[in-house]
Amino acid sequence: MTHNSRELLKLDGLSVEYRIRGGYLSAVKNVSMDIGRGEIFAIVGESGCGKSTIAHSIMRLLPDKNERISGGIYFEGENLGAYSDNQMTAVRGKRIGMIFQNPLDSLNPVYRSGTQVAEAIFLDKKDRAIVWKEVIDLYREMKMPDPDQRVRSFPHELSGGMRQRVMIAMMLARNPKLLIADEPTTALDVTVEAQILEIMSRLRADFNTSILLITHNFGIVAEIADRVAVMYAGELAEQGSVFDIFQSPSHPYTELLMKALPHQSKRAGRLQTIEGSVPRITSTSPGCRFYNRCPIASGHCENHDPPVRRLGDSHSYACHNR
Ligand SMILES: Nc1ncnc2c1ncn2[C@@H]1O[C@H](COP(=O)(O)OP(=O)(O)O)[C@@H](O)[C@H]1O
Ligand SMILES: [Mg+2]
Repeated sequence: MTHNSRELLKLDGLSVEYRIRGGYLSAVKNVSMDIGRGEIFAIVGESGCGKSTIAHSIMRLLPDKNERISGGIYFEGENLGAYSDNQMTAVRGKRIGMIFQNPLDSLNPVYRSGTQVAEAIFLDKKDRAIVWKEVIDLYREMKMPDPDQRVRSFPHELSGGMRQRVMIAMMLARNPKLLIADEPTTALDVTVEAQILEIMSRLRADFNTSILLITHNFGIVAEIADRVAVMYAGELAEQGSVFDIFQSPSHPYTELLMKALPHQSKRAGRLQTIEGSVPRITSTSPGCRFYNRCPIASGHCENHDPPVRRLGDSHSYACHNR
């Protein structure tokens, strides 16, 4: 496979199926995308569209060994599929960092937050006083209020926003090339959300860190991302630059998601839900997965895979009727 040095991560026809009772669930189907160095790339879609499955596949954090995975995952030109489990352990954290919606899952409740940061990142340094000072500096960089107090706090004594700052501090200190952030602000209020997004933008600006940002909120995409992939029921509906997508959304699902954008803030209401819900696909027969919710579907859509149409260098969408 040819490797372009601008490109950091490449998914080449990634498909993931989970074994479920009586068969397999197609959580991700034939997804191709690439993320450039220093780029903020968003994956957007409702719950159940396969966003987290993509993140976990990249990190090799899928729940067990019963999934069927096909297609390639290339990082810095190397095929991660060929890496041993030990090699992947080295990739996680050092070269690719990940933060989750609920940081409590990643923090140990019985240790002070600062101790966990210190242990995660300053293993090689002996002098406790110096290490502690560096952790406080990191907290300060994360705009943590009262950093010299907060390093001594246990995770349950911190707010959701503060915990997410602790997680980002750890990631930042390890200086990964790619940060995968899976719904990092979904549990936070709007003010804190804005601060976390700002920290991520600064990460990119200061260290050229690429960010794969997973969200169901198009408002966040508009605010921070360079490019975006819209997913529906495991398939790519559309992808392109944020400018392209907002200027000329071409897939009917993209249009619906954008219409559902809350105009004011989270307080004004969650995403206005679109009629219907994301189906769980277990059949292998062809057809557009958006068919039964689509305002412009025709009979043809039910049984034929939609063609991928290109509108420019990086803008493409999959639809029969557009
Ligand atoms: N471990 C699993 N076993 C079976 N099905 C799963 C598992 N994890 C996720 N799924 C299913 O795969 C689909 C995609 O899930 P997910 O990747 O979590 O979507 P998202 O992150 O976009 O909400 C959903 O239908 C979900 O129920
Ligand atoms: Mg998810």
